[in-house]
Amino acid sequence: MDVAISPSILSADFTNLEAELHRIADADFAHVDVMDNHFVPNLTLGLPVVERIVRVSPVPIDVHLMIEDPDRWAPAYAEAGAASVTFHAEAVRAPVRLARELRRLGARAGVALRPATPVEPYLDLLAEVDMVLVMTVEPGFGGQSFIEGTLPKIRRTRAAIAESGLDVWVQVDGGISAETVERAAEAGANVFVAGSAVYSSDDAAGRIADLRRLAQG
Ligand code: DX5
Ligand code: ZN
Repeated sequence: MDVAISPSILSADFTNLEAELHRIADADFAHVDVMDNHFVPNLTLGLPVVERIVRVSPVPIDVHLMIEDPDRWAPAYAEAGAASVTFHAEAVRAPVRLARELRRLGARAGVALRPATPVEPYLDLLAEVDMVLVMTVEPGFGGQSFIEGTLPKIRRTRAAIAESGLDVWVQVDGGISAETVERAAEAGANVFVAGSAVYSSDDAAGRIADLRRLAQG
């Protein structure tokens, strides 16, 4: 995968999700933020809604689980047909077992790191996952500003993947816009989540195309 754009439906109109998913039909994925009001101080949606989203979405679903006990809950999202399921390193108990289970169920497995979580303790996981999500804001809310201090971690993550020879994607999530996407790409990210930057526009397809062009450099 070269560059992928994954708009976050957190900034979409939740009463019109099917239409909102069709607004981003040019994207590579639709990013779905699952929050449980424990791992993060916000509550969004869960499995029954994701099951329906998978059925109506024109693009594959990229699930970001901001929940406690992903070991218990994550496999059901893969069973529901999500293309990608990402759990947080800070919440998971048995990351290798969970990543293997997600892959066995046919999903790509991702591990996410909060802005202050270093990547180094998780480098041994690279062979078990398809994606590392480097959070570029504190998870919980859309519309926050990009934390520049996460750029070195994106760089270190990309360098470790290059050294490993594995094909692992690096996703960034939070504050990604036309102003920040190039810096994240230059640091080594190749999958870009953008919520407010895409959904705040009447021309979501245009925003997706702009982000893709800027990310490709
Ligand atoms: C935040 C979520 C993000 C959020 C990004 O915790 O994980 O996916 O939707 O929103 P923006 O792009 O507005 O920062
Ligand atoms: Zn997210």
